Amino acid sequence: MYHGPMGQDGIIGVFDSGVGGISVLKHLVKLMPHERFVFYGDSANAPYGGKPAEWVLERSRLITQGMLDMGAKAIVIACNTATSVAAATLREEHDEVPIIGIEPALKPAAEADRHDRILVMATETTIRLDKFHRLARDWGSRSDIVAVPCPGLADLIELGDLESTRIRDLLEDRLGQYRGQVDGIVLGCTHYPFVARQIRAVMGDVPLYDGGAGTARQTRRLLEERDSLAPTSQEGSVEFRSSNTDPGQIELYRRFYRLPLRTL
Ligand code: DGL
Repeated sequence: MYHGPMGQDGIIGVFDSGVGGISVLKHLVKLMPHERFVFYGDSANAPYGGKPAEWVLERSRLITQGMLDMGAKAIVIACNTATSVAAATLREEHDEVPIIGIEPALKPAAEADRHDRILVMATETTIRLDKFHRLARDWGSRSDIVAVPCPGLADLIELGDLESTRIRDLLEDRLGQYRGQVDGIVLGCTHYPFVARQIRAVMGDVPLYDGGAGTARQTRRLLEERDSLAPTSQEGSVEFRSSNTDPGQIELYRRFYRLPLRTL
């Protein structure tokens, strides 16, 4: 049960199957520099994209509980796949804190410009579930929508070598056939903003949309409503955690955190 302001000093928990959520974290930190963030990447279990929904829900439940135990005042599901699968259930199970999800940025794409044909890149699970079909219905009257599942792409990004020929070949294989035929691309997986430049190399100079900024704004709005934003006197911080205990894993997260985002 939710009973009034949660207090301002809790952490904001942010999670994803792995490095992808860091693209959302960057927007969150930029918008709310005084907050204390804990980012959890489930890299030992990535990718989520091709896994059964029930399994993704179970992981999301466990991670959410872990963050609540750490005193989270808000939880951001920085993963389109986990949002599609788990956000509604988690909100039912935990009305004591706001739980914010991310969805493929069809709305921002539709509102930014008049597009004839929008390509949406996402995981197979995101594209398969109702939530995406609803989104596509809501915005599909303004533009044709082409949904392109990109199995394997998040896994390759997770490895950290963003310049690899395997990434280039996969992008060419999945997207090349649409070159010159779409005038907007939605990055419907939080891993993909990290290969924005590589996507442009295949598709040309097409506007790319991702949901990170909108998710950050929504998080701030909900905290503001509850009077739970950290005071500006507080020094913000970011802590990285991972289910993958390899020594290099946290350093990989830090490296991604330092990368510039090249979407819009
Ligand atoms: N980053 C996730 C998303 O936004 C999922 C990638 C994966 O684990 O398949 O959908």
